[in-house]
Amino acid sequence: MTDGHGPVLGFVGGGQLARMSALAAAPMGVRVKVLAAPSDEGAAEVVPDVVVGRPDDPAALRSFAAQVDVLTIDHENVDHATWAELEADGVAVRPGVGTLRHSDKAFQRQEFAAAGLPVPDFLVVGADDPTAAAQVEEFAGRHGGRAVLKASRGGYDGRGVWVLDAAEAPGFLATYEGAPLVVEPLLPLEREVAVLVARRPSGEIAVWPVVETVQVDGMCDEVLAGGGEGATVLPPDLEAEALRVGARVAEVTGAVGVLAVELFVVDGAVVVNEIAPRVHNSGHLTIEGARTSQFEQHVRAVLDWPLGPTGLTAPYVVMRNVVGGASGDPRDRQALALAQVPEAHVHLYGKTSRPARKVGHVTVLGEDLDHCRARAQLAADLLAGD
Ligand SMILES: Nc1ncnc2c1ncn2[C@@H]1O[C@H](COP(=O)(O)OP(=O)(O)O)[C@@H](O)[C@H]1O
Ligand SMILES: [Mg+2]
Repeated sequence: MTDGHGPVLGFVGGGQLARMSALAAAPMGVRVKVLAAPSDEGAAEVVPDVVVGRPDDPAALRSFAAQVDVLTIDHENVDHATWAELEADGVAVRPGVGTLRHSDKAFQRQEFAAAGLPVPDFLVVGADDPTAAAQVEEFAGRHGGRAVLKASRGGYDGRGVWVLDAAEAPGFLATYEGAPLVVEPLLPLEREVAVLVARRPSGEIAVWPVVETVQVDGMCDEVLAGGGEGATVLPPDLEAEALRVGARVAEVTGAVGVLAVELFVVDGAVVVNEIAPRVHNSGHLTIEGARTSQFEQHVRAVLDWPLGPTGLTAPYVVMRNVVGGASGDPRDRQALALAQVPEAHVHLYGKTSRPARKVGHVTVLGEDLDHCRARAQLAADLLAGD
């Protein structure tokens, strides 16, 4: 606590995002505590001060809040009611509950549409609404016979996203149980990009150059930054529009800390896909690839300290996720990977390797995009094994 040794920053959730944030806080002398569920892996290996408790347990959250000066999140599955009570009691919860509510895809979409932000055509249907199937069929009928259905809560890495033909809607909805669904057209994506924004309680904003994200089976596989005028992945007018939308989303959501805005490029324009009110996979390449990493910036922003510069440190920066699957621990393959790709920056999260689970990432910086991509892929493949 504030005892003459600076603030104590508390992370709710103990995964790799808390881990990498804690690693960024250390050189600044910021003390970090983590509230981690017994099953959480990642942060506990590098943070000595771990409190074991569930982020969705009100009592655990309240007692953790009493031990820190500023509360922030590793993931958004915290108990919202308790978060709101803590905020009302004057605890520095960053982001606040008004921002956290936007992690619900239905709420988010409705708010953004009302704020005049560009979003895909959509509707929201309840799982037990008897007219849901007819609504989805009608919607799909207007959009080429197919629709994308998304669980408004609880999905990630493509889990909770389904592409259906109109005729499949009744069967799907007959067995679907859970949060309301956002229904949208299957869009002809030209590319997917992301804007990372950091915002202080005072309103100061910093935005990194737009990155391109490459998804495989609905999960982020690769992130690219750099190139072109002013080192952007997009033509200058589209880059400017994406940055404007990103900053506007930060204002509309009242974000504090880092916020990630996933955008689709469709018909030469950007539309908002979804946001995450926290540090994000699309920003991992900022650790070596930007003058201030998203993790350092998040710590500075939630402590209401001045933000750092966000320019890239190389003409091109490529990040590739290391996805689990093979037997054994990717740490056992690290020496081999570094022998073949010594320029790769390897980050392993200390998580048990399982298929389709992100267990680490690698970043490569350089002058040539294709070369960086090939080298990052080689390093990630060697670490993942097969
Ligand atoms: N309406 C859509 N049209 C085409 N592809 C989509 C659409 N919605 C999602 N996708 C694809 O699925 C991925 C995951 O969807 P998203 O809504 O971002 O869910 P998640 O929460 O799992 O990241 C997107 O990054 C994109 O590749
Ligand atoms: Mg997404």
